[in-house]
Amino acid sequence: MDIENLKSHVHDIPDFPKEGIVFKDIAPLLASAKARNAATKLLAKPFMNQQVDYVVGMEARGFLFGSLLADVLDAGFVMVRKPNKLPGSLVTQEYQLEYGTDAIEMQLSAIPDGATVLIHDDVLATGGTAAATARLIKKAGGSIIGASFLIELDFLNGRAALDGIDTYAVLHY
Ligand code: PRP
Ligand code: MG
Repeated sequence: MDIENLKSHVHDIPDFPKEGIVFKDIAPLLASAKARNAATKLLAKPFMNQQVDYVVGMEARGFLFGSLLADVLDAGFVMVRKPNKLPGSLVTQEYQLEYGTDAIEMQLSAIPDGATVLIHDDVLATGGTAAATARLIKKAGGSIIGASFLIELDFLNGRAALDGIDTYAVLHY
């Protein structure tokens, strides 16, 4: 399936969730087995010949393709979640939003020291979520080998926040 066909499975929703924002709806991509499978293969492609011990995906939409990607790469899958969702000893990272701050958490024992980790999320926008995730992984002792996104909003230049991390996206807007 070519990129234009994949893109036809991502619908633009104007003024959602707020006026002036064009939301990228990946529901049609998930609903099509062919498109979902093609997207998963393209996500995995840059990392097929590398040792990936864990894919780390961010709640909520990073879970969708994250675990499919982990399956293709024969890697473990680790959840990064919003606060107060995970039990046990955690690492926490705050990050800036347009107004105020937010935080994400990961289980400290999820990533053994020196394990190779691939970050995955559905969308790279400002890069705030992915950069905070990179900090979490480093705090836990993991070694980041790259970051892979289904969609990159190029005009927001989120990859600048991932300085030094190999960053890939299947679909660019
Ligand atoms: C969206 C998207 C990414 C993040 C990208 O998640 O799924 O995780 O924003 O934005 P950034 O690059 O500016 O950090 P959202 O917080 O809307 O929540 P969801 O995944 O739980 O739907
Ligand atoms: Mg998200």
